[in-house]
Amino acid sequence: MNMVDPQLAPLSNDIKNDVKIDIKDNQFLKDVLQGLSQTNKTLPCKYFYDEKGSQLFEQICELDEYYVTDTEIKLLQNNMSDIAKFIQPNCNIIEPGSGAGIKIQLLLSALDQPKSFTALEISPSALKYSVATIKKKYPALEVNGLLGDFTDQENINKIKGSQGNNNLVFFPGSTIGNFEVDQAITVLKNLSSLAGDGQILIGVDLIKPLNTMLEAYNDKKGITAAFNKNLLHRINSELNGQIEVEQNFKHQSIFNAEKSRIEMHLISKQDHSIKVNGVDFHFKEGESVHTENSHKYSTTSFERLANLAGLKIKQSWYAPNKAFVLFLLEK
Ligand code: AVI
Repeated sequence: MNMVDPQLAPLSNDIKNDVKIDIKDNQFLKDVLQGLSQTNKTLPCKYFYDEKGSQLFEQICELDEYYVTDTEIKLLQNNMSDIAKFIQPNCNIIEPGSGAGIKIQLLLSALDQPKSFTALEISPSALKYSVATIKKKYPALEVNGLLGDFTDQENINKIKGSQGNNNLVFFPGSTIGNFEVDQAITVLKNLSSLAGDGQILIGVDLIKPLNTMLEAYNDKKGITAAFNKNLLHRINSELNGQIEVEQNFKHQSIFNAEKSRIEMHLISKQDHSIKVNGVDFHFKEGESVHTENSHKYSTTSFERLANLAGLKIKQSWYAPNKAFVLFLLEK
């Protein structure tokens, strides 16, 4: 006889319709229902990063087309001794959205006796991995990990409360590009409050030839497409979703020149309806769910943004052809 462990068996659609998640307790559900109820449907990109999504993002970082990671790592490697001159000994490093913690190791190895490292990360698996790796590699360093979203003020306050002076906030990867102007200013203000009297080292992707940008978000192996669609799979598995992902949606990345950003969308292949926790949403053929923005800056446009958050550029390090920049910011 074929035995199925009831704990492992997928919920049948009938059961999914009966068992409802309580919206009050579930921010993911709340955000999904709100995003899909808008005339122009959206889903927040922070929900890309469950375990599967974090793994897919690591694979994106290794793609030939996704120049962002490689360019920034080379930029850090080539300039690390100069960068280190601007950072005082015994500093406390804080990294919001630390991911797998690869880039931080370049910094930790170059700095003069860093005192502590605090990682704030939304993905439990990525946080566990980075904290364990860094503890092992830097036994003299005090390593702290906080599981959570860096756009959540409560998490910023928790870290602020536990840090002393001489802070360096590390925010690489051009993650700032994933926020619209108003949100980006709030994020920069939060980074600034984490830094206190200290500094922020931030990586920013710069505007470049159209094809290079488009290929980076439309890779040939389809990893970016899988990353984008994973959001819908997550809705299916965590929010009683009934979405035929492959049959009904395709990945699309476009460049919005007016807003200087790559936009990722999930496009409905045909007229159809989906259910999320018992709530129906209708899609027309060609209709989009806007899932992510990746703003591409110039030095001038980023400086304007930093100034609006009360920050000044103290120092800059550019990749060849001005493909990417690391800014050291202070109040
Ligand atoms: C994390 N973030 C900066 C990436 C980006 O380039 O916007 C996420 C990503 N989306 C598609 N590819 C990579």
